[in-house]
Amino acid sequence: MMFITFEGPDGSGKTTQVKLLADYLKKQGYQVIVTREPGGTPIGDQIRNVLFNLKNTDMHPRTEILLFQASRAQHVERLIKPSIEKGFIVLCDRFADSTIAYQGYGHQVDLKQIHAIVNFATGGLKPDLTLLFDIDVKEGLRRRDRGGDWNRMDAYQLGFHQRVRDGYHHLVQEEPERWVVINAEQPPDVVQAVVQKIVLERLKNSPS
Ligand code: TYD
Repeated sequence: MMFITFEGPDGSGKTTQVKLLADYLKKQGYQVIVTREPGGTPIGDQIRNVLFNLKNTDMHPRTEILLFQASRAQHVERLIKPSIEKGFIVLCDRFADSTIAYQGYGHQVDLKQIHAIVNFATGGLKPDLTLLFDIDVKEGLRRRDRGGDWNRMDAYQLGFHQRVRDGYHHLVQEEPERWVVINAEQPPDVVQAVVQKIVLERLKNSPS
């Protein structure tokens, strides 16, 4: 029915917001699926373990990129598309834009190649709506370090995270109709109220 993705730098609080929105939409009578990337399927979860295993220090950047896409292809074909077709609202914590922001802008891999490989992985599927949880990079890292697990991806430097944030803003400029930027520095309940308002409005205006 509708495919909504949640994007943002590490520590932006989007995972909490996905869960709160799912509870809210279910109460409104919608059928909702919550999922995330990398992962979201049994095969995807195995790939996630390979990606985030601290022992895998030898992973080449191209290997990493391909593993994210392998997880995504499985996710699109086995969970996301079938769920949309069955009439669910699919809420996805990170999707294709994460590869463009993290691998493309963050790690500065050739953007044309990144776009091509992402399109291959998604089979051309695009979210109907993408919410960017925007937060100052230092504030995001500070928040994240207070709680949550430390993983291999988290070890990158501040400059990297700044490029990721800037990358997201480039993406918003390229497709402003798909994105809504949300100030994630506000308290979680305030952020959630904004999210609910945006999503309800889209649902009201959606054809199905
Ligand atoms: P995760 O533990 O799910 O954290 P978060 O709450 O930040 O989403 O880790 C996901 C990490 O993987 C995060 O640092 C972003 C990164 N990532 C990529 O680099 N490329 C991708 O395509 C995806 C989906 C995630």
